[in-house]
Amino acid sequence: MAVTRLFRSSPAAAPLAGTIAAPGDKSISHRALMFGALAVGETRITGLLTGEDVLRTAAAMRALGAEVAQDPDGTWQVAGRGIGGLVEPDDVLDMGNSGTAARLLCGILASHPIFAVMTGDASLRRRPMRRVTEPLTACGAVFTTREGGRLPLTVQGAVYPISLEYRVPVPSAQVKSACLLCGLNAPGITRIEEPEATRDHTENMLRHFGATIAVEKAGRGRIIELSGQPELSAADVAVPGDPSSAAFLVAAALLVPGSCLTIPAVGLNPTRCGLFLTLDEMGANVVVENRRIEGGEPVGDLIVTHGPLRGVDVPWERAPFMIDEYPVLAVIAAFANGTTRMRGLKELRVKESDRVAATAALLAANGARVDVEGDDLIVHGTGGPPQGGGMVTTHMDHRIAMAALVLGAATQQPVTVDDASLIDTSFPRFVELMNRAGGALAPA
Ligand code: S3P
Repeated sequence: MAVTRLFRSSPAAAPLAGTIAAPGDKSISHRALMFGALAVGETRITGLLTGEDVLRTAAAMRALGAEVAQDPDGTWQVAGRGIGGLVEPDDVLDMGNSGTAARLLCGILASHPIFAVMTGDASLRRRPMRRVTEPLTACGAVFTTREGGRLPLTVQGAVYPISLEYRVPVPSAQVKSACLLCGLNAPGITRIEEPEATRDHTENMLRHFGATIAVEKAGRGRIIELSGQPELSAADVAVPGDPSSAAFLVAAALLVPGSCLTIPAVGLNPTRCGLFLTLDEMGANVVVENRRIEGGEPVGDLIVTHGPLRGVDVPWERAPFMIDEYPVLAVIAAFANGTTRMRGLKELRVKESDRVAATAALLAANGARVDVEGDDLIVHGTGGPPQGGGMVTTHMDHRIAMAALVLGAATQQPVTVDDASLIDTSFPRFVELMNRAGGALAPA
């Protein structure tokens, strides 16, 4: 179902029930396509997210010379060109709404001797790119950007790339991954230090495709050493369900009285599980069954049942492990008994929108009490549903749109969003699946 811009979610008439699968993991999907393009041979990918963001990466890898196609059974095939084998794209690379696609691709381009121009939509053109262009310049690439280090940018990749040694100053898997991807085509050891551990899908996939990588714990962070110019061999990838997308279904089940939803095969990589830990502390009834390893990543089936919740203090150290889940956690917190304080959300301000401000506005417009203190977001839950009835400005942010629509399933009055079209970037069937479970989402 194509989602129109103005959309409304009305209180569910009955409990939500059934089995609903979350779409493929966005982070893993981007990486599978990129690694497939850099490997020798044909990579087969099952469960790939076919959201707009990932389709932008597929288009970019095609523009760089890889063959990327989808079989009628839904499996994706990538015929790679080998490290160093990408060709100059003959047009601008448009990464749409996707910061991950843009930043990881900067890493790949930096160590290929080609010229490229990159842009994105209005949201992506506002986001900081210097966090990748600055470290990548040290490999010999030349980047030019708009004022403030924003897109559009141009890159002339290094002819003789030098391996990087870099301490990532912000907790960012995208920056870490850009540096590692750059290191694939540089001789010698690329050494990246991250002071706070972040999601490790790039490291896992490097191993999966045959690269040599050593990861050492260092305090709360890690030191990663990648041996340059390996021969990456094509490897099949089974993409698990995205925990960040599953989070919206989990929230809907927790908030609509009487609900019970099963969400199968959700990725449970420990670097992505901060929300589930927090929900456990809030007293949420989320049971994980059938834990297993699929395609090198831990997965499990979630069974989520509605019940009372209590407010909690979410420590700042947990932020990298649940960075995309704060908008929906804030919605959940509005229904809990007591105050939930989410600490240290500085990075949330440079996502698809300023999510601290957008989430606070979302809740305030619907009658919830919320405060922002520095980089902390504080939600005063009442133990019952907020009034609802508000209009939410999504600022081209898919997660703000979905958080608002989940809120509307459990408030007293419907919740309206000004633009639901961006939901397609990460969760194309969100409206259809929510309605199949018993939600009441429709164009306004
Ligand atoms: C991502 C990393 C996170 C996350 C984004 C996807 C990735 O960003 O917010 O949605 O795939 O590496 P940062 O770790 O850069 O903050």
